[in-house]
Amino acid sequence: MYLVLTINPGAAPLDAVRDFCADLSGLLRSVGFRDLDGRLSCILGIGSEAWDRLFGSPKPKELHPFKEIQGVHHAVSTPGDILLHIRATRMDLCFELAAQITSRLGEAVAVVDEVHGFQYFDNRDLLGFVDGTENPTGGEAVDATVIGDEDDDFAGGSYVIVQKYLHDMAGWNRLPVEMQEKIIGRSKQTNIELDDDVKPTWAHNALTVIEEDGEELDIVRSNMPFGDIGKGEFGTYFIGYAKSPSRIEQMLENMFIGRPPGNYDRLLDFSRAVTGSLFFVPSVDFLDNVPEISTPQSLIETSPGNSVTDSSLGIGSLKGEPSHEQPAS
Ligand code: HEM
Repeated sequence: MYLVLTINPGAAPLDAVRDFCADLSGLLRSVGFRDLDGRLSCILGIGSEAWDRLFGSPKPKELHPFKEIQGVHHAVSTPGDILLHIRATRMDLCFELAAQITSRLGEAVAVVDEVHGFQYFDNRDLLGFVDGTENPTGGEAVDATVIGDEDDDFAGGSYVIVQKYLHDMAGWNRLPVEMQEKIIGRSKQTNIELDDDVKPTWAHNALTVIEEDGEELDIVRSNMPFGDIGKGEFGTYFIGYAKSPSRIEQMLENMFIGRPPGNYDRLLDFSRAVTGSLFFVPSVDFLDNVPEISTPQSLIETSPGNSVTDSSLGIGSLKGEPSHEQPAS
């Protein structure tokens, strides 16, 4: 499940979110322990403006709002203060954790986007291709994603970019499979990469391979298909983690503007990005020890109705409830 939240105006929501940070690991343990084979995990990301409001300085060096791209195609930038990326082998575990988290956060936040992904056969996207093959694993995945000593204050953290894509399935299915394979850069049936002499320079897996000083710069993706049959919605939720967001931004420029400009990713002729946000994922240590901060007056906006009620699920109320009943100044 991918949940993007915004934090409501006022001081009380900020206090509620700061309080919640230290509770996340306990909630995850409580729900996850009910079926350890379900491998429940949760990643929490914080957007640039939310970071300023919640924690001020120091701020992760490369945390900024997602940069919109107006190339051959358009990568939109959409609001997002908090990202929750919840994974398990069972949807009920994900759903329960999401319900517990949003109940705990109560009226401090609003859910602005919610996607329930599913595994589609052998890890295929809805375009029919196996997605995730070239992800680094083990130590290489850690090297690609986890910040080391280069940012003393935020070692152990990571950056994440999300984009929700909707596919034009009718248009895609009209293409001959050979053309689809050129667009992705792999065989549809066998998932084998196309040879360089037949792979176009605009293939998706050509434009998303980037290098620095002769070394490939990796990211870790955890995309999932999602859809809504009634609405005719067929999509891919793109989520990429990296120790520097510039890697993912470079890939996006190659895809949307082209490398060289104009030589863009044809996948985008059939896939439209309808969201785009960048977050910093702090370490568990940071979340467990969120500094006590009182919200600067300049960041407190008027917000009517910050009173807290139990959710319809009846599973708890916000921590520090009394402070939420105070009107924000
Ligand atoms: C509609 C959205 C997308 C779909 C359906 C999609 C699908 C795929 C597929 C099928 C592959 C080949 C198998 C694999 O290695 O995973 C692939 C590779 C890859 N994609 Fe995407 N992708 C999407 C968006 C993106 C975006 C936005 C980025 C980065 C900003 C990205 C980065 C990559 C990378 C780095 C690879 C591996 C390239 C390689 O090393 O061969 N993808 N994608």
